[in-house]
Amino acid sequence: MILSWVTIREPSRLILSELKHKGILASNNLAQYSRAGLLVKDREFLKDLLVSVKRTDPDILSAAFYGRDDEVLAATDPDHPSPLRFSVASLKGIQVKRSSDMMAIVNPVRDELGRALGATVVVLSDRRVEEVVRKSAGLMVLSTLGFFFGVFIILNFLIKEALKASELELAYDHLQRLQEQLVKSERMAAIGQLAASVAHEIRTPLGGIQNAVYYVRDSLKGAPVFASDPGIGDMLDLVEDEIRVSTRIINELLDFSKPVILKKRPVPVEGLFRSSLASLSVPGNIKTSFKPSPGAEDLVCDAERMRQVFQNLMLNAIQAMPEGGELAVSARLEQPYLCVDFKDNGTGIAPENMDKLFEPLFSTKAKGTGLGLPISKEIVEKHGGVIEAASVRGKGSAFTVKLPLDPEKRSG
Ligand SMILES: Nc1ncnc2c1ncn2[C@@H]1O[C@H](COP(=O)(O)OP(=O)(O)OP(=O)(O)O)[C@@H](O)[C@H]1O
Ligand SMILES: [Mg+2]
Repeated sequence: MILSWVTIREPSRLILSELKHKGILASNNLAQYSRAGLLVKDREFLKDLLVSVKRTDPDILSAAFYGRDDEVLAATDPDHPSPLRFSVASLKGIQVKRSSDMMAIVNPVRDELGRALGATVVVLSDRRVEEVVRKSAGLMVLSTLGFFFGVFIILNFLIKEALKASELELAYDHLQRLQEQLVKSERMAAIGQLAASVAHEIRTPLGGIQNAVYYVRDSLKGAPVFASDPGIGDMLDLVEDEIRVSTRIINELLDFSKPVILKKRPVPVEGLFRSSLASLSVPGNIKTSFKPSPGAEDLVCDAERMRQVFQNLMLNAIQAMPEGGELAVSARLEQPYLCVDFKDNGTGIAPENMDKLFEPLFSTKAKGTGLGLPISKEIVEKHGGVIEAASVRGKGSAFTVKLPLDPEKRSG
């Protein structure tokens, strides 16, 4: 825009100055050769003089001679005199007059004694200045448009770059999540293989130990030493308890390594709750309850696998309430899911552990394997569902199993 302004102002100034010099030159020539003609008022001579000067330059529009009494003595155009008004007697020197589209040079003519004989008027056209202004105005509009177009292109580029950066950031986050999942699933697969072989190897000797304890207990039955030392019976109970714990751990490890194949059918949620409860030994200081909502009575699932999930969640809740409490299970609809909530008012979970709950082998318990929740998650996800956890330390925890209602979305 500044450039366009310069392109208007500079050429206009140059053209006007050139016109002025041309006009002065022409009027000086006229003044020089017209003295005698003006003195005797030879109109023919004066007219010829005017026409010959006009011919020399296309910028000269017209020219005229005025007499002492301001009368027009000769003019190149019938329209002359122009609207410019002056008095010959009062002219002191060359005058340059400008109107909207022309420039007039008025030059007094005097005799040797300095007396006024008349005046010449040369009128020049301003049209070249107008052309420059017109062209430059077009240029100004174009350059303004160009400027805004340039700004638009730059903004567009910057916005696109910003979008690209945020897309890249998203893609990077996604990639990072995928990588984490890959590492996790590789870890799970490795644990699965190891678990399967270790569990297989340990199950046989464990069975042998159990048989041996049974044999010892049976052999000692009625023996005086068994009756006199109650510690022997206690020790045998302890060994059997530990065998039970070890067997459970081995079974969990084997479950974890087994591929999840589902046999789905509609199963009453309450039935799952009751049968899971029956397989757990619930201390007397823990109250249990089940509350279904209308329409949330049946889960379409693999009953055996889902019972395993219920057992894991209920066992965790019971273990979290060593001082007693309440385990409340309820079923409800939350489109597009049927949700089963397991709420306890036990110890709660430390906030820093919330992210690790479903990681294999994460456990805060002395005898925990840390496989209950990962196995449950795997089973629920195979059903096309999700499992969520919420907890307030010291107040209790809530685990929710969400299974899709739409059978199309269920997998497995
Ligand atoms: N209801 C709950 N209240 C408090 N903490 C819980 C609850 N459920 C799970 N946790 C925490 O999550 C951890 C992981 O649970 P998970 O069931 O996977 O393993 P575990 O119970 O320790 O061992 P196991 O393999 O025998 O189930 C637990 O050790 C415990 O710290
Ligand atoms: Mg557990």
